[in-house]
Amino acid sequence: MHKSEFGVIGLGVMGKSISLNIAENGFSTSVYNRICEGEENVVDDFIHSTSLKNINGFTNLKSFVEGIERPRRILIMIKAGTAIDTIIQQILPFLHKGDVIIDGGNSLFTDTQRRTIYLNQAEIDFIGCGISGGEEGARKGPSIMPGGTFEAYLKVAPILEKIAAKDNSGKPCCTFIGNDGAGHFIKMIHNGIEYAEMQLIAEVYSILKVSFTNDEISKLFHEWNIENTGNYLLEITSKILTKKEGNNYLIDLILDKSGNKGTGSWSSKTALDLGFPGTMITAAVFDRFISSFKKDRVELSKNLTRKVHFNAPKIEDLKKAYQFARIINHHQGFLLMKEASKTYNWNLNFSEIARIWTNGCIIRSKFMEKSIEILKNNSDYLKDNQTFNSLHDNEDAIVETLKYGLENRIPLNTLNASFNYWMSITSERLPANIIQAQRDFFGAHTYQRIDKKEQEYFHTTW
Ligand code: 6PG
Repeated sequence: MHKSEFGVIGLGVMGKSISLNIAENGFSTSVYNRICEGEENVVDDFIHSTSLKNINGFTNLKSFVEGIERPRRILIMIKAGTAIDTIIQQILPFLHKGDVIIDGGNSLFTDTQRRTIYLNQAEIDFIGCGISGGEEGARKGPSIMPGGTFEAYLKVAPILEKIAAKDNSGKPCCTFIGNDGAGHFIKMIHNGIEYAEMQLIAEVYSILKVSFTNDEISKLFHEWNIENTGNYLLEITSKILTKKEGNNYLIDLILDKSGNKGTGSWSSKTALDLGFPGTMITAAVFDRFISSFKKDRVELSKNLTRKVHFNAPKIEDLKKAYQFARIINHHQGFLLMKEASKTYNWNLNFSEIARIWTNGCIIRSKFMEKSIEILKNNSDYLKDNQTFNSLHDNEDAIVETLKYGLENRIPLNTLNASFNYWMSITSERLPANIIQAQRDFFGAHTYQRIDKKEQEYFHTTW
């Protein structure tokens, strides 16, 4: 039997889709899935479900590994966490120097850094690879974010770049990101940005829902999507809103408790660790948490005498507020990556990251396309005059939108986080002098003075 050019471990939804994508692009592929209760026929069923002849199925790990040509290229597509360590332990005895393991799940970047060191000792290359686009992306072309050594990247680049989505100019939405955990780090931030983008749409929907039907909101989102606000999440939300089950709209039947698998929280925690104000991602994560307290919300809402006076929101303001918040969201996400790039010596290329996020991934958008140039010519979004001016020009619109939310008791935490961040970052003076004085009063923590050199610290006996 001919050896395969590539191997995939794990035939979950993403594993199956990406295996088909790889094989369909002409690379002979071996796939492996463990045999355990409920997964006895996964490999057989998968092989029988496809007419592609260049896929071989295995349930024996040794035969799977030995059936791949060297240097082996093996993509792990299983649940992030300890299962990754376990499978690495299991395949390690069958691998040889120079083989490459790629972790294509949403692993925590610090785990990837740890695994890189561990596998380097065994002279095995390890690529921590962010893959975005869900099932459809994996099947037809995801956005791919590989981190590791450049030499290891070169071994897998021909395959990853072939199966990736393509940008507007036909280039693959896959590029070498940086050392060790860089690929998984930027995928984590991608997801953080995704959380805030999703929450912003939810907040806009919550305002519109007061005065408009699902069909009307869907139509509006469809119109916005054609314009410069266009983005994948808006497009799918427009479709979601019209889906019916019998006479009911499915969206009205879905319980208002949102789940999460952790990447948003990791982004927030990382922002805290790096001392960076990632306020929008954090607001969006907390919004998901608050939603999960459904029982308390129902109980407490019973005791409330609502004094709301609904009037129709101004659609034009709402659109501008949404766009305003999206810009701040991207600004914070990219600055967070910049902070990490310095801390971990990754030398990230932000324009290139924006480019590989223009197709295949969940946060692809017209603004992301614009971001390629903005981030090529500026150190961040707010340094770009046009972007800065558009935020400035839309201040009134977001204030009106936030006022509308307050008056009508509609929580708008993430929109609000964007505007408060903007106000703070553009304020010459903040009340942090009070904080410093308080810290010095009770703890002798010292303070700096505006009339002295910044390097000098003072303490007062208050
Ligand atoms: C993607 C998605 C994908 C997924 C995450 C986040 O880029 O394809 O980000 O990775 O949506 O699992 O999911 P949660 O919302 O469950 O945290």
